[in-house]
Amino acid sequence: MHPIHHILLLHLLLLHVSPSIQQSFIYNGFKSPDSTNLTLTGIANITGNGILKLTNVSSHQIGRGFYPDPIRFKNPGSESALSFSTAFAFSIVPKYLKLGGHGLAFTISTTKEFAGAQPSQYLGLLNVTLNGNASNHLFAVEFDTVQDFEFSDINDNHVGVDINRMKSVNSTRAGFFIDGNSTIQDICLHSGKTIQAWIDYDGVKQQLNVTLSLFSTKPSTPIMSFPVDLSPVFQDFMYVGFSSSTGVLTSSHYVFGWSFNMTGEAESLDLDLIPSLLPAKKTNKGLAIRFSVSVFLVFLIIIIAGAVYTIKKFKNTEVVEEWELDLGPRPFSYTELKDATKGFHEKHLLGFGGSGKVYKGVLPDSRTQIAVKRISRKSKQGPKEFMSEVSTIGRLRHRSLVQLLGWSRNKGEFLLVYDFMANGSLDKYIYSSNNSKLILSWDQRFKIINDISSGLLYLHEEWEQTVLHRDIKAGNVLLDSDLNGRLGDFGLAKLYDHGSNPTTTKVVGTLGYLAPELTRTGKPTTSSDVYAFGALLLEVVCGRRPLELKASPEELILVDWVWDKWREGCLLEVVDSRLKGKYNEVEAAMVLKLGLMCSSDEPSMRPSLRQVVRYLTREVPLPESLGLRCDGGAKGGLVVKIDVFTPSSLEKMKSW
Ligand SMILES: *[C@@H]1O[C@H](CO)[C@@H](O)[C@H](O)[C@H]1NC(C)=O
Ligand SMILES: *[C@@H]1O[C@H](CO)[C@@H](O)[C@H](O)[C@H]1NC(C)=O
Ligand SMILES: *[C@@H]1O[C@H](CO)[C@@H](O)[C@H](O)[C@H]1NC(C)=O
Ligand SMILES: *[C@@H]1O[C@H](CO)[C@@H](O)[C@H](O)[C@H]1NC(C)=O
Ligand SMILES: *[C@@H]1O[C@H](CO)[C@@H](O)[C@H](O)[C@H]1NC(C)=O
Ligand SMILES: *[C@@H]1O[C@H](CO)[C@@H](O)[C@H](O)[C@H]1NC(C)=O
Ligand SMILES: *[C@@H]1O[C@H](CO)[C@@H](O)[C@H](O)[C@H]1NC(C)=O
Ligand SMILES: *[C@@H]1O[C@H](CO)[C@@H](O)[C@H](O)[C@H]1NC(C)=O
Ligand SMILES: *[C@@H]1O[C@H](CO)[C@@H](O)[C@H](O)[C@H]1NC(C)=O
Repeated sequence: MHPIHHILLLHLLLLHVSPSIQQSFIYNGFKSPDSTNLTLTGIANITGNGILKLTNVSSHQIGRGFYPDPIRFKNPGSESALSFSTAFAFSIVPKYLKLGGHGLAFTISTTKEFAGAQPSQYLGLLNVTLNGNASNHLFAVEFDTVQDFEFSDINDNHVGVDINRMKSVNSTRAGFFIDGNSTIQDICLHSGKTIQAWIDYDGVKQQLNVTLSLFSTKPSTPIMSFPVDLSPVFQDFMYVGFSSSTGVLTSSHYVFGWSFNMTGEAESLDLDLIPSLLPAKKTNKGLAIRFSVSVFLVFLIIIIAGAVYTIKKFKNTEVVEEWELDLGPRPFSYTELKDATKGFHEKHLLGFGGSGKVYKGVLPDSRTQIAVKRISRKSKQGPKEFMSEVSTIGRLRHRSLVQLLGWSRNKGEFLLVYDFMANGSLDKYIYSSNNSKLILSWDQRFKIINDISSGLLYLHEEWEQTVLHRDIKAGNVLLDSDLNGRLGDFGLAKLYDHGSNPTTTKVVGTLGYLAPELTRTGKPTTSSDVYAFGALLLEVVCGRRPLELKASPEELILVDWVWDKWREGCLLEVVDSRLKGKYNEVEAAMVLKLGLMCSSDEPSMRPSLRQVVRYLTREVPLPESLGLRCDGGAKGGLVVKIDVFTPSSLEKMKSW
């Protein structure tokens, strides 16, 4: 035989015999035994009911699930990438309501292992050195719930196509089209809903389409459709699968079903046939796997009716169930709270907030400890406005916020009910003189700083509305029984405006924490919150107030003092001496520098809370130059700050 024929024959044999040449597959769920041959890496696992669970809510984790065998993406002897088509159903369930984690990516790559890959923004696919290298041969479609400015992400809810680098070659906000309507219907990727995605590549036209929907049928208009040649990206054989990761913010990522096709359009998944999270949540195993819609609706109506009934009855003193909390803060009866605080006895007084006295209480039936704030109200603001704000704020939910549990109204008086924080407020620890019981270790301080930054990030960026705290200070940072830091009194600041507290001035906030522009414009912003957060950072490290009247003139204003020391190159001299040198110097220097950045007089120079969290978790290094004061005058801030002082505020300061 002529040698050429030999080679041809070999090629033909390879094409038809090689087990690697898988053309299409479909998984309607990943139930064993037939589907358990996916290659799982990191913390990925298949749940009992056949769901591919890529990550859980542990932070900084990677989870991947890949089809075990490589797939041919180029014909022998050809340089052009073949068409492919895939459909899959996934959902992203954040640990905290409305607070995303990182996303999930459909991936085509030369490897299933991804040596050196990092979690968080690298989605478990790349790291900083690998990012952008053409020899990665990596194609990914990311469903991203974090806006990463480093990678020029368009928003925190987008679909992006990544080639060899995390910065997308094209991206679009997540959504879909209903046939016959040209308006995008938005999809919140981290809503926990099951989302079906289709990715279609036409190798001849060199066109890539990405389509999304909340349903089983594929919309006829893709959300993304653009020209791209994948030939340089693909090698002859590639692996296909999913990768996702968590960072500081975490989500569970699930894939419920997957079809893939090299020879035609991938079959769409019937969302009723694949496993879902719903039955898994029920403890009753007898429940049918598939809820019929009507049964579910009836169930829902009963729950709501039950809830409304209980709320109407007002006598509900039972333990609050988790689902009840989801309905927002609940009403308490005045007598219930009066009993809980032994008639608002002075013995139970925890402290004075900006808006009223705070009492400790114990709910008689459940023995739950609560904190009750009594706001006396002689304001123009009616109960309706008050309630609408309370219900808004009551829906905020984050581990680093003090939870508002409910409210009560009695004649002109409002009562707010909060989680009880066993260890009181941070100020008593920071300002305590040498009572060793009250001195927090460096690790405790650093943890509290991280807690508060994530709580504030939630208020600023992660909730449905931007919530300004407006009164961040050590006195509003509370410590729970495990010394976790929790931000209190958030959002309610707006109510103070109308309160009857005579010491509350038009500009809300506390001296020493007030951003200079606030006194000029009177308009609070997220960056005025950042300013106050900066003051808090410096306080926690230095163990003193932002304004210390007893200190020497050069130490009067904390931020100026720290700034001077930084310029003199002896930054760590400002660290709280009560730590007796026992602290992490790298962390302390970072927090101090960050505190200075946040304390910039120029609002635009201050970082956002998202950036603050990145710096604190060392996802991104701090910039070398802090670029603080445009005028370079360390005392520039003093003049502005002094302007705020009025005789009565100075009196108040002295009494601190
Ligand atoms: C993995 O499972 C699929 C579906 O049952 C099957 O078609 C495929 O041959 C299996 N692959 C391996 C390598 O076992
Ligand atoms: C994966 O799940 C199985 C049960 O479904 C369990 O036995 C196994 O330990 C899990 N593996 C990991 C790595 O969590
Ligand atoms: C997440 O999964 C890993 C590996 O299975 C496990 O060690 C860890 O405890 C889990 N974390 C949570 C919060 O469930
Ligand atoms: C990135 O991964 C590559 C490959 O494993 C490794 O050589 C490199 O050191 C990693 N870079 C970083 C910053 O981890
Ligand atoms: C890209 O990766 C290849 C192989 O790992 C390596 O040899 C090359 O130096 C990398 N290029 C750059 C610019 O990092
Ligand atoms: C198209 O969708 C938008 C957004 O949901 C909706 O407001 C509008 O009424 C729809 N138009 C038609 C013609 O159905
Ligand atoms: C991509 O979408 C365009 C526009 O809807 C369509 O004409 C084209 O056929 C689609 N291509 C593939 C591969 O689905
Ligand atoms: C990105 O996609 C849109 C349509 O989804 C397309 O109009 C645009 O040209 C694409 N941009 C690039 C750079 O390919
Ligand atoms: C792949 O495409 C072919 C041709 O359209 C079709 O017959 C087959 O059902 C598809 N397979 C899957 C798993 O989507």
